[in-house]
Amino acid sequence: MSSSIKNVLIIGASGNVGRAITDAFLRHGGFNVSALTRSSSSSTFAPEVTVIRTAYTLASLIDAFTSQHAVVCAIGTVANANLENQRLFIHAAEAAGVKKFIPTEFTLDTSDERVVDLIKCCIMKRDTVDKLREVENRVEWTAVSTGPWVDWMATAPAEEWPWWDLSNKTFVKFDDGNTPFDASSHAQVGKAIVATLLPENREATKNQHIFIRSFRLTQNQVLEIFEKTTGSPWTVVPNSIGDVGKQGRAIYDEITRDGGISAAAVHPELGGKLLLSVGLMISAGIFGLGNWCQFEDKAKFWMNKLGLEDEDPVEVLSKAIR
Ligand SMILES: NC(=O)c1ccc[n+]([C@@H]2O[C@H](COP(=O)([O-])OP(=O)(O)OC[C@H]3O[C@@H](n4cnc5c(N)ncnc54)[C@H](OP(=O)(O)O)[C@@H]3O)[C@@H](O)[C@H]2O)c1
Repeated sequence: MSSSIKNVLIIGASGNVGRAITDAFLRHGGFNVSALTRSSSSSTFAPEVTVIRTAYTLASLIDAFTSQHAVVCAIGTVANANLENQRLFIHAAEAAGVKKFIPTEFTLDTSDERVVDLIKCCIMKRDTVDKLREVENRVEWTAVSTGPWVDWMATAPAEEWPWWDLSNKTFVKFDDGNTPFDASSHAQVGKAIVATLLPENREATKNQHIFIRSFRLTQNQVLEIFEKTTGSPWTVVPNSIGDVGKQGRAIYDEITRDGGISAAAVHPELGGKLLLSVGLMISAGIFGLGNWCQFEDKAKFWMNKLGLEDEDPVEVLSKAIR
């Protein structure tokens, strides 16, 4: 394998998962960590991080990527649609001689056609991996599937995750609450990205879709942890996941009908609706009966290679809501 990766640039390092990825690199040590941020952003970063502000033009991206060995993209869903599915990042990575690019994946298995069909917005992620395949002889890539981040979901804004409401102790439970799903903590995602870039794992993870998780859960188990941690019962609101998936798909189809997902993302009113539809469709993937979010065998295979272990769901969830 060619020379090791020391200089790492993270795009979206201030975001939900970007912060955890940045922390993991700093905690591991041995990397020079930079953050690429919008010129207009008010995000702040740890003092050890070199901050590069950009207008996201191709020329400024090539400039920022030059001398970086790896670029990790952790921008959010709407930004991804705004930025044409990371097209410019991939061009810039190739032009600047970046060795490895990690796209903003971090969801269910988007290499599974049924998942993309169920959760339409995943087309963006698949499109990005298709672009990376075209340049993979020059820029290696690894797409990391994580399942849902339950620590984020436990406290996420209601517009993005309306089901678990900590302040009102209200839990929307779909169907019998027993469908298992594999999930990750933010910290586990950070550790996985670092491990992927270590010399001993470069060859195995090169140009691969890989899977990680922290544990397997059901909604009933999540509810039990919330009730034990908060010390009192929560109000359970019954719902049906079939309806939620259809509702998300109907909103998505309506707002993308005229100009596609990129046009919806930049529209002043449709951007919010896009996030809502994404949340609804993803919920159908996680809690639905199609086993869409169960990848235990693949996760065990990859975590064994990367030296990662399952985590304790009680520890992760109770820490998230305390
Ligand atoms: N598995 C899960 O449970 C789960 C949950 C949510 C998201 N995701 C996925 O994880 C990835 C990251 O999501 P996230 O929630 O961590 O992201 P996020 O916090 O919404 O955003 C990450 C960063 O993107 C930058 N950004 C925001 N708007 C932008 C724009 N218009 N143009 C360019 N940059 C912009 C910001 O950085 P600066 O301010 O520094 O520019 C922001 O901090 C996405 O692929 C998403 O689909 C997964």
